[in-house]
Amino acid sequence: MTTPRLRSTRGRLVTAAGGLSAAVLAVTLAVPANAAGSTLQAAAAESGRYFGTAIAASRLNDSTYTTIANREFNMITAENEMKMDALEPNQNQFNWSSGDRIVNWARQSGKQVRGHALAWHAQQPGWMQNMSGTALRNAMLNHITQVATYYRGKIHSWDVVNEAFADGNSGGRRDSNLQRTGGDWIEAAFRAARAADPNAKLCYNDYNTDNWSHAKTQGVYNMVRDFKARGVPIDCVGFQAHFNSGNPVPSNYHTTLQNFADLGVDVQITELDIEGSGSSQAQQYQGVVQACLSVARCTGITVWGVRDTDSWRASGTPLLFDGSGNKKAAYTSVLNQLNAGGTPAPNPTTPPPTGNPTTPPPTTPPPGGASCTATYSEGEKWNDRFNGTVTIRANTNISNWQSTVTVRSPQKITATWNGSPTWDGSGNVMTMRPSGNGSLAAGQTTSFGFTVSHGGNWTWPTVSCSAS
Ligand code: G3I
Repeated sequence: MTTPRLRSTRGRLVTAAGGLSAAVLAVTLAVPANAAGSTLQAAAAESGRYFGTAIAASRLNDSTYTTIANREFNMITAENEMKMDALEPNQNQFNWSSGDRIVNWARQSGKQVRGHALAWHAQQPGWMQNMSGTALRNAMLNHITQVATYYRGKIHSWDVVNEAFADGNSGGRRDSNLQRTGGDWIEAAFRAARAADPNAKLCYNDYNTDNWSHAKTQGVYNMVRDFKARGVPIDCVGFQAHFNSGNPVPSNYHTTLQNFADLGVDVQITELDIEGSGSSQAQQYQGVVQACLSVARCTGITVWGVRDTDSWRASGTPLLFDGSGNKKAAYTSVLNQLNAGGTPAPNPTTPPPTGNPTTPPPTTPPPGGASCTATYSEGEKWNDRFNGTVTIRANTNISNWQSTVTVRSPQKITATWNGSPTWDGSGNVMTMRPSGNGSLAAGQTTSFGFTVSHGGNWTWPTVSCSAS
């Protein structure tokens, strides 16, 4: 890492080199071209972060495009080529060609790869769009297992699940064929990904999750908190960060990133683009970079394309290079902000893994260990109260279970159904046991429900399960 002090010294030496002192010239040339923050990747690396872009395979024979991409970025996301429809066009027949083009290009250029995306309601192949229930759940899990196994050892981070939360004020899940297979589909996806590629970082990725006070942000936050509490394997959260005048960079962006990081996950800005031009666009870009740099666990930033003309919303000129490949004001503001430094990221990015993949750990629990999973899903909402359901899923054959539901003050649970509750002294922690026989075969589910008087606090309850 080059310190700001060394960089300013080097700046003076470069200027002095014009005076042709042989000694000064020798020192100047000894500094590697990228070492002092003259490119986005070099500047980001000074604080242990990466700077990435989305790459489209169809543009890899455009030399202006590849020259910029090669020079500026060291984390590559396939814009479309590793999505479900691209990789599994027919059920269980995988087409790796376009994904491989991107992964090989990136790795041959010494760059790392963010895998995007293993499970998503959109860009599903036609055969999957028409599926439901157990068949769809199994098809999704098979897709994750096959893809993560195929690319094992080559992917820095996977967007395991993309865009699973609803827009608007509900803070709940988006309706989709995947969601209708059961609220636990997301954790099932993460478990399958971990088993297939134990060394990749596993991320949840979404948009409109930038403003801390938005219900969608809270919904994702509560899910991540719940996953961390229950040991669901999640390592990181991606913030897509697609901004425009109707959806500007929020003033509490830093708070959002920091609060997620405080849950014990890395955070990354994964698809950044900001519509606009000139100094106003430049200023907004600077704010995003500043927010990331001030959060130690914000480990990198990816912009969603190279030039404005490469963007999925080209008319909004949302990127850092214009259509001719010239650096925009936004580029300079990002570079300067990266060079201004920030809180160092704790784990500087490591080179792409090259060793033999390790054998996935067994996914079955140890012999004799009865286990269950509790998943919360939202029910009806009123001004003063809301309903919730907890689904208990047996991971092994179990003879009994109990589930703990914790609500946050001033919330109170005012009614329950399908179970026998007991309470701790505070009234905030309810332990629910089955009203009758609690035995479930592995894979079977049961559920109970309750009403929460929320007193203005809409935070989801935390739920957990233990079995014997
Ligand atoms: O390749 C075909 C081409 O053969 C055909 O002639 C043309 C006609 O429509 O379509 C081309 O495919 C398009 C593809 O991009 C490649 O350009 C699809 O129609 C188009 O839907 C697709 O859009 C992509 C979009 O995801 C789909 O949801 C964008 O490129 C891609 O940037 C965008 O990326 C998403 C992230 O994955 C998730 N977050 C939001 C982000 C922006 O929407």
